Amino acid sequence: MRSENPVTTVLLPKDGAAPGAVAVAHPNIALIKYWGKRDERLVLPWTDSLSMTLDVFPTTTHVRLDPAGGQDTVLLNGAPAAGEALRRITVFLDLVREMAGSARRAVVDTRNTVPTGAGLASSASGFAALALAAAAAYGLAPDATALSRLARRGSGSASRSIFGGFALWHAGPGTGADADACSYAEPVSSGGLDPALVIAVVNAGPKAVSSREAMRRTVGTSPLFRPWAAASKDDLADMRAALGRGDLEAVGEIAERNALGMHATMLAARPAVRYLSPATVTVLDRVLRLRAEGVLAYATMDAGPNVKVLCRRADSERVAAAVRDAAPQGSVLIAGPGPGARLLSEPA
Ligand code: DP6
Repeated sequence: MRSENPVTTVLLPKDGAAPGAVAVAHPNIALIKYWGKRDERLVLPWTDSLSMTLDVFPTTTHVRLDPAGGQDTVLLNGAPAAGEALRRITVFLDLVREMAGSARRAVVDTRNTVPTGAGLASSASGFAALALAAAAAYGLAPDATALSRLARRGSGSASRSIFGGFALWHAGPGTGADADACSYAEPVSSGGLDPALVIAVVNAGPKAVSSREAMRRTVGTSPLFRPWAAASKDDLADMRAALGRGDLEAVGEIAERNALGMHATMLAARPAVRYLSPATVTVLDRVLRLRAEGVLAYATMDAGPNVKVLCRRADSERVAAAVRDAAPQGSVLIAGPGPGARLLSEPA
């Protein structure tokens, strides 16, 4: 009974209309980072990663099959997609078509509420929503694990946005098809931890180097990559233990060291990739001062200059005010743990 599982519900076509499905997914922020692929085509990572799905910035994606189309049509925030964005989505739809045994082209209409390409995980929510909507539109009924694997093929971090709360993406062993089957995310419990992430958007513009390119360069040239990947294994084990006992201080310390280590790998790449800006460093300094003032606050940064500060919910307003003060040119918002990807019952 597919309709019992929200992940696998398939919308029935209205009279005469092409089948379609609408899905919504939220971004996630990694506390243990994914950085580096061991297989680019299958999007297999070097290391396990662990994230929190957010309750802000959802992406809503409508996929319907095009009865006439000779090619896929993709609208990103209402504008036709072109170039690399269109290519990535078409390659992803080809994969879904291969699984479904279909040659039909699709019309994809996707709306992000997060600035695209600014290191705020738009590809995670984007490909999680696309995976769910496209699978449903093409009549597939993946379980959550298969859906996570599918989303991974669009963007690695999207594998984790299938799930709400905290999710662990297993790198999986080996290579090829066996490895593909073993690399997926699953929910992890957080020992009752209910933190906030204060997001300091110090620059919402698109990044100069895509995370995909930056990862490739880091794996290929950075002498710090292998040591970080090895340390990240320990970080993950420590993180799981800290999460399990709901220890925010340890969770924050581990997340911060893992993220700073990831940025160190990029700084040592040749040529270097530096996402952190002066405003980033100003916020990092403020976070250190908050700790000196007795507030549990820990920073993490992704492929961009923006800073996410993990703290207690009860401290989130104070942390947000401090960060706003430190980076008055930016914007600050407070996020909490959010829901997994889901289908909406009616096409938008
Ligand atoms: C720094 O998932 O965007 O946010 O798989 O190439 O699409 P691709 O990369 P992506 O990388 C995210 C990297 C990160 C860390 C993380 O989310 O774990």
